[in-house]
Amino acid sequence: MEKIESLKGNADSSYELAEARRRFGFEFDGMRNHELYFGTLEGETAELSDSKLSQKITEQFGSFDAWQTDFKTLAKTRGVGWAILYYDKQTDSLLNSWVDEQHLGHLVGLTPVVALDMWEHSFVADYQPSGKAQYIDDYLAQINWAFVEGIFDSICS
Ligand SMILES: [Fe+2]
Repeated sequence: MEKIESLKGNADSSYELAEARRRFGFEFDGMRNHELYFGTLEGETAELSDSKLSQKITEQFGSFDAWQTDFKTLAKTRGVGWAILYYDKQTDSLLNSWVDEQHLGHLVGLTPVVALDMWEHSFVADYQPSGKAQYIDDYLAQINWAFVEGIFDSICS
């Protein structure tokens, strides 16, 4: 944001300004995606409790296990990006969806409540490329669902 501001008003920087603006979504969404990802791993691991979120998951996916199965399949999408559980306030519904890179495919008006980093940098050092499925399983086993429920409660009321 500071770079964009510094380039405004300088005719010689018009190309650089346009390029910075074009990449802004990548940088901004990358920041927010990672804040959510690490947020879900902070504090103690906590299972999903009997909450508004668990009720919504069961209502839409049939069960928590069914949601996890769908989310795991989503996370194995080829290429770098993010597996995201969104809440759509407009339709009062949850949606699992993929984002390429940091920003391509983010859904307008929906709020991410779980975001799993599926860039190779997030798991290859610990799991090797062949360990992608184990990384996904381990992430889901270590989520602090109380954190996720807090986000959900703050947006779905
Ligand atoms: Fe990352």
